[in-house]
Amino acid sequence: MSSPTLSPSALESLLGPWRERAAGPAYRSLADRIRLLALDGRIAIESRLPAERELAARIGLSRTTVTAAYRVLREQGYAESLRGSGTRVLLPGTQEGGGLLPDEGLLDLSRATLPATHRIADAAQHAAAELPAHLGDPGYQLRGLPGLRAAVAEYYRGRGIATVPEQILITNGAQHAISLLARTLLRRGDTALIEQPSYPNAITALRATGAKLLPVNVTTEDGWDEEELLRLLRADRPSLGYLMPDFQNPTGRTMSDPFRERLTAAARASGTVLIADETTAELNIDRVIAPHSLAAHGSAVLIGSVSKAAWGGLRVGWIRAGQALIRQLAEARPASDLGTPILEQLTVTRLLDEWPEVLAARRDQLAAGRSALTRGVTERFPAWRVPEIEGGLAAWIGLGAPRSSALTLAARQEGLLLAAGPRFGLAGALERYLRLPLGLPEAELGSALDALARAWATLDGSGSPARGRDAAARYPVL
Ligand SMILES: Cc1ncc(COP(=O)(O)O)c(C=O)c1O
Repeated sequence: MSSPTLSPSALESLLGPWRERAAGPAYRSLADRIRLLALDGRIAIESRLPAERELAARIGLSRTTVTAAYRVLREQGYAESLRGSGTRVLLPGTQEGGGLLPDEGLLDLSRATLPATHRIADAAQHAAAELPAHLGDPGYQLRGLPGLRAAVAEYYRGRGIATVPEQILITNGAQHAISLLARTLLRRGDTALIEQPSYPNAITALRATGAKLLPVNVTTEDGWDEEELLRLLRADRPSLGYLMPDFQNPTGRTMSDPFRERLTAAARASGTVLIADETTAELNIDRVIAPHSLAAHGSAVLIGSVSKAAWGGLRVGWIRAGQALIRQLAEARPASDLGTPILEQLTVTRLLDEWPEVLAARRDQLAAGRSALTRGVTERFPAWRVPEIEGGLAAWIGLGAPRSSALTLAARQEGLLLAAGPRFGLAGALERYLRLPLGLPEAELGSALDALARAWATLDGSGSPARGRDAAARYPVL
């Protein structure tokens, strides 16, 4: 397979405003920035970098500077020259590109996940006992097992959202749901509205369709920029809007009911399909209330998953939509997969029977995680801003300075993985933020925050990263 080529304008946009904060020679800063983009997945390994002369012209540097930056990347093992066909991005020590999972032994603050709920083993045993009844079927169920579709429909009815099983399609997790919806509803050149910051893998899936993404800001202080969101719906009439109305990942904000009403009315008027990703919607810490789903206010498509409340390893999620769209999605599905494993679907059917208990156990875990994180960050970083956290799996921390990428690079040298703020946005925005997870055990969190403090101390006043050996891990943000 030939390697993807980064155009000068695509790389310029990924680089963001790197020079405003750079200290030291420009070629070093440029190399540092490209190295971070490769490490945290924003530049695909094996991509070809733009030709030196073209990049230099695009970003207003001399060709010598770009040549020197590429040389540094080659020396550090982050690039190789291909005779006659430019420069390819690599990870050190691998000619094949890196693994996608963090190396053993690294501390990890990049993932907002929790270990499995203790109820999984029982539910899986129950599922195994039920499996023989299904072994006479071919096992390919494009819409999902009828029993699980019925259980999910009942779960929505329990939340006050009238639903029949024909409105449910079972997926291999919420990410699969996002990607299936994106490629079914979007064509190259369409527009899609997203929050900024948003869930990074959703940004990737939406971008992969060739749609133009329209970002709307969400902040921990003020929530959604409501007027801008409504204006974009009116002015651009986007085909799709991907939103997380409850415990938005990563800001943790929840939309007000009056705004949900205005939003669904505006989307109806503009013909926009609103998608509410509710993967983290039930992770209330303080309140024990069902979320006021967008579907209660209009015809939004809902995405659900058991990954956060129960376990990501089950890989089961779903889409709730009108029956016509469910049919369309089932028809589009075989291009990527032919159904969700039956044993896992049986396990989830059982888990949904005891969902209130599963959620209650999570609430206790997250409450403890929130206290430990808030205390740990406030003690070590008095100038950082830790927001009020009502639910969800993460805290969107304000660093008070645009240093998130630099901190992420410096943290590598302390054996710590971070997800830099810009991974949650478009075109290099969000350098002033860092997402930290609530789910780490307290001892591990303490060591990780100590490593973070050491990394922070190595940044100079301008936020330049320290240099040295990187841990060559590349990983998805969850
Ligand atoms: C908002 C959001 N959507 C989707 C996903 C992916 O979920 P799943 O593991 O079910 O694919 C995540 C996981 O982190 C998430 O936070």
